[in-house]
Amino acid sequence: MEDQAEKLREIMKRKKDGTGSPRASSSKSNVKPADKARVITVTSGKGGVGKTNLSVNMALAFARLGRKVVVMDADLGLANVNVMLNMIPKYNLYHVIKKQKTIREILVETEYGISIVAGASGFSQIANMGEEDRRDFISELDSLSNADIIIIDTSAGVSSNVLDFIAAADDAVIITTPEPTAITDAYGIIKIIATEYDSVNMGLKLVVNRAKGAAQAKSVADRMINIAGQFLNLKLDYLGFIYDDVSVSHAVLRQKPFMVVDPKCKASICVQHIVERMDRNKPGETGGFGAMFKRLFKSSQNETVV
Ligand SMILES: Nc1ncnc2c1ncn2[C@@H]1O[C@H](COP(=O)(O)OP(=O)(O)O)[C@@H](O)[C@H]1O
Ligand SMILES: [Mg+2]
Repeated sequence: MEDQAEKLREIMKRKKDGTGSPRASSSKSNVKPADKARVITVTSGKGGVGKTNLSVNMALAFARLGRKVVVMDADLGLANVNVMLNMIPKYNLYHVIKKQKTIREILVETEYGISIVAGASGFSQIANMGEEDRRDFISELDSLSNADIIIIDTSAGVSSNVLDFIAAADDAVIITTPEPTAITDAYGIIKIIATEYDSVNMGLKLVVNRAKGAAQAKSVADRMINIAGQFLNLKLDYLGFIYDDVSVSHAVLRQKPFMVVDPKCKASICVQHIVERMDRNKPGETGGFGAMFKRLFKSSQNETVV
C-alpha cells in the first residue's frame, strides 16, 4: 500500500515536472491487484434527481454483498450524504482541502456498515479549486484503496471537479428522471464528457430514477443510448431504473436510507438489482484503483476547462 502510494506520488511529481511520460503511469507493474478499489461516480445533469439517494443506497446494497464500501460526498456546495444519514461528522472535506486533515482521518463509520467521507456544504470555494489542488485532492483518494468500493456522490452539472472524478472512475453512473429537463441536462453532461475525453471505453452507465415502470424507463434509456451512439459515438450502458416510490421521500424525512427503512419497497428492490448487475460486471484488467490514476494522468493531458 505505502509502496503504491509512493510510486503514484512519484509519477505525479514527474508529471508535474514534465519529465514523466504518461506511459510510465500505465505500466502494470505500478499496480498491485490486491489494492484495487472500484471507483463509482454518480452524476447528473440536473440537481435533485436522486444522486445522493442512489449513492447511499447502492452502498448499502454492496455492503450486503459483503463489500467494504466508502461513500464520498463530493457534492461540493450542496453536500448532504451526512444529512441523509443523520450524522454530523466533526471534520469534512473542507479540512482535507485546507490540508488540515487527511481523507483517512475524516472517514467515519456509520451504523449501516458503510463508511462515509462527509462533504463540505456551502463552501463554494472548493468547487473552484485550482487544477493542482484538485489533483492533489484526488490523489488523496489513494488512502482509501483498502475499500472494495468507493462511491463518489458528485454535484450536478459540469465543472472541472466533476469531470476529473468521472474521468478517474471505473464506472461513471449518470442518473436522470423521465422529465424532459432532466434528460436534456443528462445528455448535456454526456456530450461534454464525450468532447473532453476519449470516452469510448469510459464505462458510462445510465440509471433512470423515478420511473413509472420498466417500460417508461427503457424508452428513456433507449432514446439516450441511441442519441449518444449516433451523435457522439459514445457507448452508454443501461444499468437499470428505480421506481418513483413514496418510500424514498419518507425515508429521506426520517434521515435513514430507504434500503434500511423499507428493504422490500419497490425502490429498494430496484437498487438491489442495479448493484447485483454491477457486481457481476466487475471492471476487468483495465479497471480498479490503479487504472483510475492512469485515466487521471491521461485526462490531465487534455486541458479540462469548462
Ligand atoms: N425513486 C424516487 N422516488 C420518489 N422520490 C424520489 C426518488 N428519488 C429521489 N426522490 C426525491 O427526490 C429528492 C432528491 O433526491 P436526492 O437523492 O437528494 O437528489 P440529488 O442528490 O440528485 O440532488 C429526495 O429527497 C426524494 O424526495
Ligand atoms: Mg445530492
